[in-house]
Amino acid sequence: MEFTLRRAVLLLLAIAVHTSLARRLPSGITPCSRNEPDLNACALRNGRLAIPILLKGIPSYGLPPFDPLRISEIRIDDPSSGRQVALDLTMRDVDIVGLRDISLDSISIDLSRKQASWSCSIPRVSLFGNYNASGRVLLLPIKGFGKMNITLDDLRLKYKFDYNLAQRGKDGLERINVIDNNLEFEVKQRAYLDLENLFNGERSLSDNTNVFLNENWREMVQELGPPIAQALSAAVTQIMSNLSKSVPFNDIFPDTPVA
Ligand SMILES: *[C@@H]1O[C@H](CO)[C@@H](O)[C@H](O)[C@H]1NC(C)=O
Ligand SMILES: *[C@@H]1O[C@H](CO)[C@@H](O)[C@H](O)[C@H]1NC(C)=O
Ligand SMILES: *[C@@H]1O[C@H](CO)[C@@H](O)[C@H](O)[C@H]1NC(C)=O
Repeated sequence: MEFTLRRAVLLLLAIAVHTSLARRLPSGITPCSRNEPDLNACALRNGRLAIPILLKGIPSYGLPPFDPLRISEIRIDDPSSGRQVALDLTMRDVDIVGLRDISLDSISIDLSRKQASWSCSIPRVSLFGNYNASGRVLLLPIKGFGKMNITLDDLRLKYKFDYNLAQRGKDGLERINVIDNNLEFEVKQRAYLDLENLFNGERSLSDNTNVFLNENWREMVQELGPPIAQALSAAVTQIMSNLSKSVPFNDIFPDTPVA
């Protein structure tokens, strides 16, 4: 009995290892032929259909659900003098909420240069988690730790990457390997900040400081934006590289027409 069970487990493992060698795109995600006359339009069309599937997560491809997207730490380390905002700020256990409403605006793929980019907009993204801050904003000192809510209205993202094709699987098939990436980040409408418990929870000081931070949200976004963008960019790159670890280049951009 035990012997049979062990054999069954081994057999299943063997199948799992075998299927992890080369796989098609997850079901519901359609590839575009690399000979498509308008590859960008095809990728945009198929990309829009793929987003809700990717958001739900596909565990067998190493993709967890990503709304909320959990990021263990985002750090802003900037005690530099002479700037308007000089903050040491650590955010921990950050849940990024709102990605489900993402809309893909454009995609551009250059297969010969091995570069691609896509732009998207998200009506509202909130970051919930714990913060620990000390420093100053304009002339005002800031100090405290507690729960935070940073909410960004009409967030625009542009993710660009360079890749090479590398034979990463045991099957010797080429896979996309991201070698450089960059994320531009713009808050089109407004940002809201709520840092609970500033100054050990001293009520009026904490409230007034939060009012002040919100009045100066543009300066705050300038400071907080780049590290948040970097964390998001790392997450997106991981999602893409987990997907491309499973799926060879030829199954993402096949040579033959896609029915
Ligand atoms: C990518 O896969 C690794 C393990 O292969 C896993 O630890 C990680 O959570 C995955 N990340 C994403 C964002 O898919
Ligand atoms: C906040 O950061 C300061 C300075 O790095 C550290 O001394 C303190 O223990 C931190 N507090 C919390 C609650 O993490
Ligand atoms: C976070 O902040 C936004 C903007 O102020 C607010 O609408 C939302 O209710 C807050 N969320 C929570 C859970 O406090």
